[in-house]
Amino acid sequence: MVQMGRRELLAGAAGMALAGVGGDEALWPADPEHAALVARAQALVDAAATQVTADPLRPAFHFAPPSRFMNDPNGPVLVEGVYHIFYQHLPTWGTEPFSGAPGWGHASSRDLVRWRHWPIALMPKPGDYDAAAVASGACVVADGHPTIVYTSVPPQAQSLARSFDGMRTWRRYALNPVVAGPPPIPGLEDGFRDPFVWREGRQWRMLAGSGIRGVGGAVLLYGSPDLLQWEYLGVLCRGMGPDCFQWECPNFFPLGDKWALVVSPLLHSEPALRGPVQVAVGDYDGRRFTPGEWRPMDLGGPSIYYAPNSLQDARGRRVVFGWIMGGGSPGVPWDGLLTVPRAVTLGPDGRLRVRPVRELETLRGPKTTDWRDRTLEPGRPIEAARGVQLDVALEVAADGGTLEMRLFASVDGARCHSLRVEPSTGALRFGDKRASVGPGGPRRSLRLLLDRSVIELYVDSREAMTLRAHPVAGDDRLILAADGAPVRLRCLQAWPMASA
Ligand code: FRU
Repeated sequence: MVQMGRRELLAGAAGMALAGVGGDEALWPADPEHAALVARAQALVDAAATQVTADPLRPAFHFAPPSRFMNDPNGPVLVEGVYHIFYQHLPTWGTEPFSGAPGWGHASSRDLVRWRHWPIALMPKPGDYDAAAVASGACVVADGHPTIVYTSVPPQAQSLARSFDGMRTWRRYALNPVVAGPPPIPGLEDGFRDPFVWREGRQWRMLAGSGIRGVGGAVLLYGSPDLLQWEYLGVLCRGMGPDCFQWECPNFFPLGDKWALVVSPLLHSEPALRGPVQVAVGDYDGRRFTPGEWRPMDLGGPSIYYAPNSLQDARGRRVVFGWIMGGGSPGVPWDGLLTVPRAVTLGPDGRLRVRPVRELETLRGPKTTDWRDRTLEPGRPIEAARGVQLDVALEVAADGGTLEMRLFASVDGARCHSLRVEPSTGALRFGDKRASVGPGGPRRSLRLLLDRSVIELYVDSREAMTLRAHPVAGDDRLILAADGAPVRLRCLQAWPMASA
């Protein structure tokens, strides 16, 4: 990942100018104080970047900020053929004085795989309406200008920022916040945040996440002709029961003739409050969404995977990015990164299909393993590949024993991170983490991405499971073993993955 050069930034600015200037720039005043806050934050991030890059546990083909802390992906958007993504960013993380008030980091990519870092877009401004957080939100092109819709705190309200120079700098709207507070709904919880914005006919639509006491999470629907004036249109969807007091980071998009709602629920019963991200496929009538069954978006659980965000690309493909939690080697100042971009579609059974975007395959080196019809016998493990950056695709017959994949194993195989898949039942186990994808057909297809300290497993292109491991330096074997009964591998292919 490279820093954006000055020349490219200027070229970007010229491109945006051609897109046409609309709106009244005077309502989006330049703010030198805000610019200074952004510059100071950027200096803290840049200062630690070299140390972070050298960390052997730092993933190499997953997107991560240059350094420091990130949480939610924000505002993924396609602008003039270039993907942009923003993220919740704490540039003072690992410094004194630390501030827990997040701003927005920024990056772009032409292929969803190789990312360039841009200057930090926004930081909270002490004493102002976003002093406590420039929290999560969306980015859309409105009036010819990329425009960020974010939650400003305190209090939680929805605010705007716009770029007039090709997304290099951002100016906050003079009349912020544009939605000053939630509508008067009896029992509404305090949360009112994480706008998700899309175009519907001649209107902008916005969702804000909240909750209703005794009922569960809720998403509130708004409409606007211009992003500036918003009308409350009602509760799009609510539910999950009294344990749930907030839906964070709603995402809402069409898949075929259905719609999918993704929410990151906060639950009273969870020690860290975050619950597993949920998705429901259902029907949308323009005002209300009737969800089908809620299902987990990722089986890694909310201590690893949370707050996904998505965009629709030029071909109509829905691409989802999730926040992966955790850092690398002790004392190295980074924490948080993104899953690889995942393409989400609707299967004929009405359930989601999820797979890494095709573009990821451009990072594959020459195939190092290509097996067909090979049987693993219990007690006779086989080395399948070497490396800590790998893409592995395999098909396993469902009628055999348990497949144990020993990830990041030492040369003698004694030390490893064991990922077990029971093809007949769909049971998965990684350390003390257990999950199930349920029974499937006569074969299961598995895709495994290993990236130094990140593991992504895809089962039958239906379920994804994000995991973290901190392997010992030099432990780079992928060893397969059968447990209980022989395991028939229909095929297995492995590729080394280049750094992005
Ligand atoms: C989700 C979240 C959002 C909020 C943001 C603040 O992880 O809590 O609801 O906008 O993080 O960083």
